[in-house]
This record gives sequence, structure tokens and C-alpha cells, in this order.
Amino acid sequence: MTRIAIFASGSGSNAENIVNYFNENDAVEISLILTNKANAFVLERAKKLSIESLVFSRKQFLETDEVLHFLTENNINLIVLAGFLLKIPENLIKSFPNKIVNIHPALLPKYGGKGMYGDNVHKAVVEDKETESGITIHYVNENYDEGKIIFQAKCAVLTTDTFEDVASKIHKLEYEHFPKAIDFLLKNK
Ligand code: GRF
Repeated sequence: MTRIAIFASGSGSNAENIVNYFNENDAVEISLILTNKANAFVLERAKKLSIESLVFSRKQFLETDEVLHFLTENNINLIVLAGFLLKIPENLIKSFPNKIVNIHPALLPKYGGKGMYGDNVHKAVVEDKETESGITIHYVNENYDEGKIIFQAKCAVLTTDTFEDVASKIHKLEYEHFPKAIDFLLKNK
């Protein structure tokens, strides 16, 4: 049995989509949903889906081993970051080598790094008049957006697209591919 912990800082639509994807799969369980935002909508989703959740402060996450202990006590084998905004500290990277996966809403290495999250990414893509964007699913190492790429998928960006249009295309790609990429990793580990 693979026990997954999902980290999310916002709405958590990807988190919910992943939970639904693995619902019928007896070999995989989304055991925990963790967030650094006490008012994040992902907590409502966790409640609705009957998944245990944990809220922690930035300080607890970055300066203590409390989150690490919570994960190990719960026998977590894989960490999935789905719209999680804090940098992952060294204690987690060391304890979960190649076991932390992130989704980034652009075609890394473009539009990655500091400040490049959420709508900032899509606004930059539209401003630069890119003709395509996409998603990148990658391992997380100590340099946030630079871990080994597992999977990318592209979508066209039209000259008439607003950043909201791009965000919606990206979300569609995320819903389609993120759970499948996790499934693929687990089957090929
Ligand atoms: C996604 O676009 C993800 O790629 C990005 O943040 C967004 C999270 O959306 N890093 P949601 O919380 O899953 O709805």
C-alpha cells in the first residue's frame, strides 16, 4: 500500500482530482492533506473527502521537524505538492529522496523560480506573447523548480488569450495528467 500526503496552499482542486482518481485503487491511499494556510479551501475538500488534514505554520514547517514526524508517524511513502507555495526544507528532502513530486503550471525551465507561481506564471506567459505553455511534473530537490522532469504536456496560447484563459487550459492539463503521472511513477518505481 502506498500512502500519499498531498500538500496544497489554496483551492486544492488538483488534490481533490487526485483523491478521486485513486478512489477505486486499493494499492494507493491519499492518507493526508497538509497546508500552511488555515483558511485554504483545500481543508473543506479534505473534510468532504474524509481525509485527515494538518495545518502548520511557516515556522513549524521551516524550523522544526514537526511536519516530518507527522509524515513518518503516518507511514507516508510519497509526497505530492499540488499548488503548495512554501519551499520544501532540507529535512523533508533528505528523508524523502525522489519521493516528492511537484506540478508547475508552465514548461520548465521557463517561468520557474522565485515569484513564479499561480497566476503570476500565466500573466508572464501572456505578456511575453508565448505561443504555447503547459505543465511540468517534476521531482523536488533543494532548488525548488529544478528537480528532474518526469512529464510535460503543452497547450497553445492564442494571441487573444487572457491569463485566465491560459490558467483554465493549464488546469485541464493538470487534471488529465497529474494523477496518471503519479500512477505511472508508482507502477514503475
Ligand atoms: C495549479 O495550477 C498548480 O499547478 C499551481 O497552483 C495551482 C493550484 O490549483 N502550482 P488548485 O489549488 O489545485 O486548484
